[in-house]
Amino acid sequence: MTDYTRLARVVCVATGKGGVSKTSLTANAAGLAAAAGHRTLLIDLDPQGDLSDDLGYFNHPGLDDGRHLANAMLGGGPLQAVLTDVRPNLDVIPGGEHLSDVGGALLARQARGRATFDLLAECLAPLAGEYDLVFIDTPPTDDTLQLLALSASRWLLIPTKADTSSIRAIQRIAARVAEARSEAHALDILGVVLIGVPTAATRVRASAADDITRLLGDVAPLFDHGIRDSAAVARETRNQGILVHELAEKVEGAEPFWKSLRDPSVAPQRLPGSAPALADDYVRVTEQLLLRIDELEHDTIGVA
Ligand SMILES: Nc1ncnc2c1ncn2[C@@H]1O[C@H](COP(=O)(O)OP(=O)(O)O)[C@@H](O)[C@H]1O
Ligand SMILES: [Mg+2]
Repeated sequence: MTDYTRLARVVCVATGKGGVSKTSLTANAAGLAAAAGHRTLLIDLDPQGDLSDDLGYFNHPGLDDGRHLANAMLGGGPLQAVLTDVRPNLDVIPGGEHLSDVGGALLARQARGRATFDLLAECLAPLAGEYDLVFIDTPPTDDTLQLLALSASRWLLIPTKADTSSIRAIQRIAARVAEARSEAHALDILGVVLIGVPTAATRVRASAADDITRLLGDVAPLFDHGIRDSAAVARETRNQGILVHELAEKVEGAEPFWKSLRDPSVAPQRLPGSAPALADDYVRVTEQLLLRIDELEHDTIGVA
């Protein structure tokens, strides 16, 4: 039997669509929480393993392309942090190609009547209690991996863009939530984070909020702050393998760009000036995420 109390601080970041900043949000929220002193574990459940770009561990000798994670789930072994101290307070269990076998293996077991979707929950429970927060990044379309992630999570955070196809994708993940939830396993939606829209764009936000309320009722509020669009920062952070707040620190400490003109042998380093603003968005979203978990934990205790 899975001990769900040990999974009380597991946050799954998911929606039924790719390219909506799931991975960027997971990496930056986890990185900020860790930087603020929360002991944090990051699990990459995506066969694409994109988190390695955001955190820059793609050349780490311990990188295993999801082998440990896949083996633990399918073999029932205990899960361990594969990369420790990727940043202070931040450990990672990497994803990658080995995870693409998991869905097929699980379906085969299901055909023999022996499949359950709590494989991740079971092998994560002993480890999760060692952390203040655990984040799971998920693939957009692999139903099996999504269900494994949701079945191991207490909370779901949904990033979305404002377009109709991204909003429809929320409906797909909400249906998964209903499948993953059970009497023994509480799973609540923390909220929806609007991506690519400046917080000041009140009309777009209001219309997205209407759409989301129509889909989800008031079970999942739209976060007060969104994440603005900044292709330059997104590209530069992944090129350098650093998080947005880390790039922002570089920008704030950088010499004015024109100074490189003094020495023509030095290639000018252009750092995108919007990094501090985007970092601020991530800080506000992460703050709200932590507050909301606190609030909901309080409510639950109050009701019990
Ligand atoms: N705030 C942003 N503004 C512009 N582009 C972004 C932003 N956040 C992420 N991106 C870019 O969008 C693409 C998809 O982001 P990603 O986090 O990988 O999404 P997902 O995990 O949902 O597929 C990536 O190329 C990423 O660099
Ligand atoms: Mg991704």
